[in-house]
Amino acid sequence: MKPNRKKSHFNVAVIGAGAIGHDHLASFRLHPAARVVAIAEVSPERGREAAERFGIPELVTDYRALLRRADIDVVSIALPNYLHAKVALDALRAGKHVMLDKPMSTHARDAAKLVAEARRRGVLLMVGQNFRFTLETQTAKQIVEKGTIGDVYHAKTSWCRRAGIPRIGSWFTQRRFAGGGCTYDIGVHALDRCLYLMGEFDAAAVSGQTYAKFGPRGLGNGGWGKSEIDPKAPFDVDDLSVALIKLRSGRTVLLEASWAAHGPVVDENTTQLFGTEGGLDLPPLRIFRQTPTGYSIEAVDMLPALVNTNRMVHFIDCLLGKAEPYVKPAQSLAVQRILDAIYASAATGREVRIR
Ligand SMILES: NC(=O)c1ccc[n+]([C@@H]2O[C@H](COP(=O)([O-])OP(=O)(O)OC[C@H]3O[C@@H](n4cnc5c(N)ncnc54)[C@H](O)[C@@H]3O)[C@@H](O)[C@H]2O)c1
Repeated sequence: MKPNRKKSHFNVAVIGAGAIGHDHLASFRLHPAARVVAIAEVSPERGREAAERFGIPELVTDYRALLRRADIDVVSIALPNYLHAKVALDALRAGKHVMLDKPMSTHARDAAKLVAEARRRGVLLMVGQNFRFTLETQTAKQIVEKGTIGDVYHAKTSWCRRAGIPRIGSWFTQRRFAGGGCTYDIGVHALDRCLYLMGEFDAAAVSGQTYAKFGPRGLGNGGWGKSEIDPKAPFDVDDLSVALIKLRSGRTVLLEASWAAHGPVVDENTTQLFGTEGGLDLPPLRIFRQTPTGYSIEAVDMLPALVNTNRMVHFIDCLLGKAEPYVKPAQSLAVQRILDAIYASAATGREVRIR
């Protein structure tokens, strides 16, 4: 397929009809110019369930059959992490626009191939960082850019759960399928939102540590995901991680992610920015600043969205030329480099420099 951004209608194939695959299917329905025409799913039961629920005419088990269909413009990938780069690369090589769920890959080397291939083909590649699309994130971005909190020099960002491992024994908790644990799974959201708000993605150095204190004992189980459980599979990924990230400008980010940990919060994600004239955190979005009479903590009214708050609707808007891509491939590659560096730092016990 030759990329054609002047089309008025886009046929979509969703690959992977598990938990988030259903969200992909539901979200594309929200755009009048998108039609999901096919699903690829290796599980016949999950494939049938999704095809029936969303009224999708074609169901296949081998996604490559869909890449050969010239009438399919967009491929939306909702697969276990280890398949992201391979399937996305196959789709890009077939000339398809690709919506790829997070994390971009399980290695920055493979993520870089996606960035290069998308550029070469002139097709749209976007990683579905849904935290970025919330109205609160979009409002916070506008506040930071207006200079309300001055120069942002430091940030803390986290997604921490008390008992939210996405089902022990599923692909999520096996390194060969997931590549990593909570760092890749939920740390990626907290990090991407933070770097987006800071307006800087490239890191100079990362010092990280990872732990697995719950999963290996069968504790901290959550309920996410539809794939099969292998009760004998080893839990060999992280269930808590921390990192100090030094950006190229010298600014810093503290990242924390946990699938399971003893603590006061059941499930909470927060990004906090520290600026020279004030601070902000979200969600919910608040601004902290000195006033002539004391100190204020203000709730913030939402501003108009920069882009549609649904990532799939935005993706189609980009293909129609109605919006500029909000999550850029180079940004997602930079995030992947940092996540990989956290694992490398944890493995070596040293700070990892990113070139
Ligand atoms: N953006 C988000 O907020 C968000 C939320 C949850 C999950 N995710 C990401 O989405 C991806 C999928 O997660 P999930 O929760 O839906 O997992 P899941 O286990 O529920 O679903 C994965 C599906 O992929 C299918 N599959 C595996 N190999 C396949 C192949 N070769 N061809 C076709 N289908 C295949 C499985 O049978 C399963 O149905 C993961 O990478 C995860 O990180 C993103």
